[in-house]
Amino acid sequence: MLPVPVMQQAQAELCDWQGSGTSVMEISHRGPAFLALAAQAEADLRDLLAIPDHYTVLFLQGGASSQFAMVPLNLRSPNGCADYYLTGTWSDKAITEARRHLSVQVVADMREHQFTQLPAADSVSFSPQADYVHYTPNETIHGVEFSYIPETGDIPLVADFSSSILSGPLPVERFGIIYAGAQKNIGPAGLTLVIIRNDLLGCAGARVPAMFQYALQAEQGSMYNTPPTFAWYLAGLVFTWLKAQGGLQVMAAINQRKADALYAAIDQSDFYRNAVAPGCRSRMNIPFALANTRLDKTFLAEAEQAGLRALKGHRLVGGMRASLYNAMPEAGVQALISFMIEFERRYG
Ligand SMILES: Cc1ncc(COP(=O)(O)O)c(C=O)c1O
Repeated sequence: MLPVPVMQQAQAELCDWQGSGTSVMEISHRGPAFLALAAQAEADLRDLLAIPDHYTVLFLQGGASSQFAMVPLNLRSPNGCADYYLTGTWSDKAITEARRHLSVQVVADMREHQFTQLPAADSVSFSPQADYVHYTPNETIHGVEFSYIPETGDIPLVADFSSSILSGPLPVERFGIIYAGAQKNIGPAGLTLVIIRNDLLGCAGARVPAMFQYALQAEQGSMYNTPPTFAWYLAGLVFTWLKAQGGLQVMAAINQRKADALYAAIDQSDFYRNAVAPGCRSRMNIPFALANTRLDKTFLAEAEQAGLRALKGHRLVGGMRASLYNAMPEAGVQALISFMIEFERRYG
């Protein structure tokens, strides 16, 4: 979901942006109006996340999947090796891509637990020669979320925050690189956010394609080529909306309330089940199954009729999944819970 006021504002000014008589989609990304928009979006994001000055913010393209390649291409040393947590489908994909570019050591492998648990904070050790450590704070498909930030000492920590960025405050200074595809909590698809510590910018070899060099993108203000201007504009509106809500502390409290309410509804019934270990449960993506899986189709069809959409679980996990990103109002979660109670009353 995108916040409704954001979409309404975009609708209202679609054909006439800031009285210019043109759409924001039509203006040059190199003109002063768009450059001011881009600068404001970055300033608002820096404000929201309290991003320190020695970090650069990039607005790129190619999705988080491109970062799976950009990270190793930019951070690998001549001996090239990195430590990766394997905690679900997205970290698995990150590892598969990284292996094309350097040698990967998997320091925690949660596959045997069907990705329903995460390693204890003190159970993982890192290779001293690792160029970086990579992890996925929130595994979108399996609904597991780290409750802690791995302590990697001097080794840069790289995190794929695609599905939990902006869901609450973040100590940015603990990370070497934070990246996220925009399409969950930032804006529409097409934009990829990278927050990178400045000393990690200039490490790419000369053979790395220009579009994939962090340093070049930083020098060019993320405009080495034509950026996705409309997505950037919408992200800027989302940042303004988040600030108007009271910022990320407020969002964190709302997100916690939404998740707590849904988990409580699932746990108090034998009719519904969530397989993720307590303490590893995601606040953003909540997969749940019906005890009687033959009712899945009926559940989804009736939910759709009740206006509750996009509840089908990922095909790898099955069942249902509720995604409670920032723009999902608490009333939306309450509507789902009421529907679940009523469905159980009729079919339980
Ligand atoms: C945690 C995570 N990483 C990576 C991706 C892939 O993102 P993209 O489609 O932007 O490449 C997703 C998409 O859902 C995701 O949830």
